[in-house]
Amino acid sequence: HSVAVLGAPFSKGQKRRGVEHGPKAMRDAGLIERLSNLDYPVHDFGDLSFQHLEKDEPYMNVHFPRTVGCANKLLSGAVSNAVGGGHTTVVLGGDHSLAIGSVDGHARHCPDLCLIWVDAHADINTPLTSPSGNLHGQSVAFMLKELQNKMPELPGFNWMKPFLSAKDLVYIGLRDVDPGEHYILKELGVQYFTMRDIDRLGIQRVMEVTFDHLLSRKQRPIHLSFDIDAMDPSLAPATGTPVNGGLTYREGIWITEEIHNTGLLSVMDLVEVNPALGASREAVENTASMAVDVIASSLGQTREGSPIAQTQTL
Ligand code: ARG
Ligand code: MN
Ligand code: MN
Ligand code: MN
Repeated sequence: HSVAVLGAPFSKGQKRRGVEHGPKAMRDAGLIERLSNLDYPVHDFGDLSFQHLEKDEPYMNVHFPRTVGCANKLLSGAVSNAVGGGHTTVVLGGDHSLAIGSVDGHARHCPDLCLIWVDAHADINTPLTSPSGNLHGQSVAFMLKELQNKMPELPGFNWMKPFLSAKDLVYIGLRDVDPGEHYILKELGVQYFTMRDIDRLGIQRVMEVTFDHLLSRKQRPIHLSFDIDAMDPSLAPATGTPVNGGLTYREGIWITEEIHNTGLLSVMDLVEVNPALGASREAVENTASMAVDVIASSLGQTREGSPIAQTQTL
């Protein structure tokens, strides 16, 4: 198995500048080196370059629909190619609207994939329920078949169709859910674990139920979409929409270790690292380093170390 790293320096799914520098922040924090220490080849495909559209008026309440749609179309193709090339693929964001293209591209190759969304937010607003008009708070709504008739036709998005069923999605870490999102989650019967659920059940049980829900009928590829704001802001302060009371370091790493241990991780996104928003250089470095730890442990870095390779001697 080999790993592909794809940078997606994109920020128009929200209104704060800086999140387009997320890929550089994670590379500067030593991402590629850390992955090279695990034992498979790592291909860094560099950063995609997204088109800047001069004229992109809001549609209804939604900001930058054409820019976001166009970027996601490009990313979808790139992810589809990487997965088709046999790589376990890591997408570095960028804001969370990129999950639309990332999961779409993954689904083109693996139509039976399931999605684990680790986030303080559900990102399941439709253009009609969105309080902000930001597309990074709407990504999941574009994917779900069940929401098809609730989605207006947005300029920039006619290249894609919904491809995911609500039963193939699990959320972990929620603690800031808008009223329209809460309605949708309940209406569709989506499996989700809020921070309160994690307090009650413990993270180990949460992961057991997650895999029961997604994998008990059959083994299939996992897409992990990890928003760094799932982590507590004390660990990941440099992000656009921090919410107190997030995952501890050990809960975050437990999630990714367990996902790695399934052997089914196929694509992951690490999004919303915004180096322009840290209060200090240290705050930015802590956030990027947290992100690198999340990625490395998703790809097999363990806390117990690994056995020496047979070719090595003591
Ligand atoms: N729910 C809010 C909204 O719709 C916040 C979403 C934050 N999303 C994120 N990917 N950080 O705008
Ligand atoms: Mn979030
Ligand atoms: Mn998110
Ligand atoms: Mn594989």
